[in-house]
Amino acid sequence: MNLKNGQPKSKDGIDLYSAKDFEGMHAAGRVAAEILDEIVTSVFPGQTTGKLDAIIEQLIENKNVDSATIGYRGYQHASCISVNHVVCHGIPGDKILKDGDILNIDVTVIKDGWYGDTSRMYVAGQLSRKAERLIQVTHDALFKGIDAVKPGKTFGDIGHAIQTYAEANRMSVVRDFCGHGLGRVFHAPPNVLHYGREGTGPLIEEGMFFTIEPMVNWGRPETKVLSDEWTAVTRDKSLSAQFEHSIGVTKDGVEIFTLSPKNKFHPTYS
Ligand code: MF3
Ligand code: CO
Ligand code: CO
Repeated sequence: MNLKNGQPKSKDGIDLYSAKDFEGMHAAGRVAAEILDEIVTSVFPGQTTGKLDAIIEQLIENKNVDSATIGYRGYQHASCISVNHVVCHGIPGDKILKDGDILNIDVTVIKDGWYGDTSRMYVAGQLSRKAERLIQVTHDALFKGIDAVKPGKTFGDIGHAIQTYAEANRMSVVRDFCGHGLGRVFHAPPNVLHYGREGTGPLIEEGMFFTIEPMVNWGRPETKVLSDEWTAVTRDKSLSAQFEHSIGVTKDGVEIFTLSPKNKFHPTYS
């Protein structure tokens, strides 16, 4: 291990953290996950994405943490809400949810300087069979990725596990957005790709903090960003889903910082 700016670094230059730092990340991740649990009952047909964001902003204030997204590169909201064919970075607003809509809500908070970043899928009203399959495969793809995290493996192993699983289910993995290192900053190296080849990419070492946040499309993987410069959509207008956890690498696996306290991570568990 190699020290630079006081922070230990991995062989490939990725920040490594201590046991005490794991506690800070756990506390931050837990608050983000609680917020995603508490928003569940507010998602229904007729609700607007702007109202959901306002509720989230209030929850953040009540929990005495800060939003990492308000003011981030000019973004002005406490969440990203991505409905149906929106892949990520959907901007909350006047959009009214209708029966059968699926949506990802992504919240990042800062607690005592540590970042907790998580997202999951919700449904307004009745879940269609197709949306249910997409959500299940995306959820399970995230956990295939998490299962691949172990000191001595590589980031390519994570991407490979996710891509193989999604494609075996005849769905596609978005290439244009990735997970990221985080800690006392929102976005740090490495880029955590959700596709790739086994044994490629940086080495995974104990003490790393990063997100895994695969976006899986029902159709083709290509995306485009709308003129608002945030909203990313599938080019073929097919349905898209995403789940995200913030994790830390332990001696023999992972600690998930953003586990749902009420076991509501998957929309059909609740
Ligand atoms: N939370 C997102 C992520 O997973 C980033 C959102 S940045 C924003 O990395 F500005 F769009 F909110
Ligand atoms: Co993230
Ligand atoms: Co996020």
